[in-house]
Amino acid sequence: MKKVLTVFGTRPEGIKMAVLAKELNEEKYIDHKICVTAQHRDMLDQVLELFDITPDFDLDIMQHGQDLTDVTNRVLSGMRDLFKNTWKPDLVLIHGDTTTCFATALAAFYAGIKIGHVEAGLRTGDLRSPFPEEANRVLVSRIATYHFAPTVKNVENLLDEGVMEERIIQTGNTVIDSLKFIAHKLEGFSEKIRNTGLPDLLENGRKFILITGHRRENFGDGFIHICAAIKELAITNNTFDFVYPVHMNPNVQKPVREILAELPNVHLIKPLQYEDFVYAMKHSYLVLTDSGGVQEEAPGLGKPVLVMRDTTERPEAVEAGTVRLVGADKGNIVSGVQNLIDDQELYDQMSEAHNPYGEGDSVRKIVKFILEL
Ligand code: UD1
Ligand code: UDP
Repeated sequence: MKKVLTVFGTRPEGIKMAVLAKELNEEKYIDHKICVTAQHRDMLDQVLELFDITPDFDLDIMQHGQDLTDVTNRVLSGMRDLFKNTWKPDLVLIHGDTTTCFATALAAFYAGIKIGHVEAGLRTGDLRSPFPEEANRVLVSRIATYHFAPTVKNVENLLDEGVMEERIIQTGNTVIDSLKFIAHKLEGFSEKIRNTGLPDLLENGRKFILITGHRRENFGDGFIHICAAIKELAITNNTFDFVYPVHMNPNVQKPVREILAELPNVHLIKPLQYEDFVYAMKHSYLVLTDSGGVQEEAPGLGKPVLVMRDTTERPEAVEAGTVRLVGADKGNIVSGVQNLIDDQELYDQMSEAHNPYGEGDSVRKIVKFILEL
C-alpha cells in the first residue's frame, strides 16, 4: 500500500490542505498520515478543530520571536528525525510557499522521498516579493516530483522553468474545496454567526470593511503606513466600521495596537475561526488585505479586494476584476478605499462574483492522481 504523508504548519496551509487530508484518510488503498509542524500553534489549532483533524505527528516547533532560520532549522531537523526514526512515506504532500513547505520539501529530498507540491506554479517574478514566499515557491519547484497547479497560468509558469509536462497536473485551487465545506456548514451563509469574537456590529446592519495584514516585507514602515491609512479612513468615514482580526505575529500586533486601538469604529479582534472569517468576508463591504488566500476567496464571494502589496502571484483575480493592488502606500490605500465608498458604479463593477480557481473538485483530482501512481 502507498504511504503518503500530508504536512502543513500554518493557518493558510491548514485551511487549504484540510479537505485533502480528510479525503486521503478515507482512501482504503492509501496508508495516509498527517504531520503538522505547528509553525503556527494557536492559528493552526483553530483550523484543526474546525475540520476535526487529529494529526498523527506534531513537531510543535512554534516559538515566540522565531526568525526564518529558526523555523527552517526546526522543520528540517524535525522532518529528518520523523523520516529516519518514526515513519518514512513514499510521497510527501506539501502546500504553497511557507517555510514549513520549503523545509519539509528539502528534508524529503534529502531522504529520497517523492514530493507532491500542492498550489504549485504561482509566481510574481520578483524573488524578494513576497518575502520569503516567492523564493520558497521557486526552490520547491526545483525539487518537487509532482506539481499540482491551480490555473493555466501556473502551469505555464512551471513549463517556462523547464518542469516536465507529465509531472504537472492542473487541479484548480483546493481553497475552493474548503470554501464549499464551509458554505455547507454555514448553510449557504444564512446561519447566524456564532463566534463571540466578532463585534455586535455584524448584527446591527452597519457597513464594515474587513482588514487583514501580516506580510514580512511590510514590517516596519509598511505597517505604519497601512495603520495610518486605516486611521484616516476610520475618522473620515464614521458611518463605517473597520473590523481587523489582528495576526498574532508581534511585528504586526505592536504597530496595529499602537496606532489603531483608541478609534471607536475600529475593532481590533483576535484571529477568527475560518468559518467566521468567511462569514465576515461575505457580509463585509470590501476587504483590505495583504493575504494570499483572501485574494482567492473573495472573488468567488463577489467582494472587492484591495491588496496592500506591490506584486501578486495571483494575477487571475486581478484580471477577473475583483482584486486591485494598492501597495503599502498611505495615499494609495486611502484613495483606493475612498473611491469604492464614494463611487457606486466602480463598487458594482468590482463586486461581480468570478471564480478563476476551479469548481471545488481539486481534492478529487489530486487524490485520483495519487491513486493512479
Ligand atoms: C507565516 C508564513 C507566511 C504565511 C503566514 C500566514 C513563513 C516564512 N511565513 O508568517 O508565508 O503567509 O504564516 O499567516 O513561512 N504566532 C503566534 N501564534 C500563532 C501564529 C503565530 O503567537 O498561532 C506568532 C509567534 O510569535 C510567531 C510569529 O507569530 O513567532 C511569527 O510566525 P511565523 O510563522 O514565523 O510567521 P508569520 O508571519 O505567521
Ligand atoms: N483567515 C481566517 N481568520 C482570520 C483571517 C484570515 O481564517 O482572522 C483565513 C482566510 O480566509 C484565508 C487564510 O486565513 O483562508 C489566509 O491566511 P493568511 O492571510 O494568514 O496567510 P496567506 O494566505 O497570506 O498565506
